[in-house]
Amino acid sequence: MSSQEAAKKAAAEAALRYVPEKGVVGLGSGSTAKYFIDGVGRLVKEGRQLLAVPTSEESRQRAQALGIPLASEVGPWDIQVTVDGADEVSAELDLIKGGGAAHTREKIVNQATKMNVIVVDESKLSQKLGEKWPVPVEVLAFAHEATRKALTELGMPRLRMRDGQPVRTDSNNVIYDLACGLIEVPSALDQKIRAIPGVVETGLFCGRADLVLVATPDGVRELRRTS
Ligand code: 5RP
Repeated sequence: MSSQEAAKKAAAEAALRYVPEKGVVGLGSGSTAKYFIDGVGRLVKEGRQLLAVPTSEESRQRAQALGIPLASEVGPWDIQVTVDGADEVSAELDLIKGGGAAHTREKIVNQATKMNVIVVDESKLSQKLGEKWPVPVEVLAFAHEATRKALTELGMPRLRMRDGQPVRTDSNNVIYDLACGLIEVPSALDQKIRAIPGVVETGLFCGRADLVLVATPDGVRELRRTS
């Protein structure tokens, strides 16, 4: 296992201590959150009475394969803790998410959660959002070229492609990665993007991380929001 992979695993496993003895947990998406899902699978085997809300089809399938009981996908839920990854974490603990195209479900689950824990390795940390990642924007496939045109008022949108085809989300929408340079006020940008018809959701998570666990060579650091 590479050192970066080991760091992802260390951060995700450190988050297991926040899983309640019984109750509802949110399962994030991506290559870091998958280690958390594996850990929840172990806890369920040991007898913990947990019900899980996955944030993507991939996470749902992983959880199902591990025998983790799943909550109804229509909600509503009262989730004690959700553990998810991130693509970029600013000094203010705002996030860019959506590298795995799952940010809309992730934001819905985050909103329904009492304590949101984000697990990352050090490479995800920056001073200001936009240093490392564009902002993923989920957009309805209908008229997505018109939505792209509107997005050019705010940055440089690029349709996310894989194998020569636009990437489709679990809800069959497309993704535009919007390069905006350094983002001074992420919540203001989030509002402006979401005001465009055709935009489903952005990957800007502002004030949504209660605790960030960062795996470093010296161990896992805990970062908490001050306001
Ligand atoms: C998916 C996400 C992921 O949490 C984010 O992309 C981080 O993934 P990874 O842990 O693989 O780097 O937001 O939409």
